[in-house]
Amino acid sequence: MTSMTFVCKIGDVPLNGVKQVALASFDEEFAVYNLGGEFFVTDDMCTHGMVSLAGGDVEDGQIICPLHGGAFDIRTGAATELPCRTKLRTYPVEVRDEDIFAALG
Ligand code: FES
Repeated sequence: MTSMTFVCKIGDVPLNGVKQVALASFDEEFAVYNLGGEFFVTDDMCTHGMVSLAGGDVEDGQIICPLHGGAFDIRTGAATELPCRTKLRTYPVEVRDEDIFAALG
């Protein structure tokens, strides 16, 4: 069974927005998204460069990288806009009451 890690509170993530989360036991940050009340978690670092995606905009279910304007599908992690080509890692999410958990292992 995959263990779920507490990521943040649902109220921490703006509606149709993104929040960067740093967790003590992980070296890299994660990006948490709220798409119309549904929550998703991906790696925060763009697969094209060393940039935090949480500094970018959420548009039509995609995260737009703030550096070169590449994009990823938030639900699947698929690269949807050049120069991004490599899929963004996504993690299964579970919401329990007000808390967001993800299988980050
Ligand atoms: Fe994200 Fe280049 S670093 S598109």
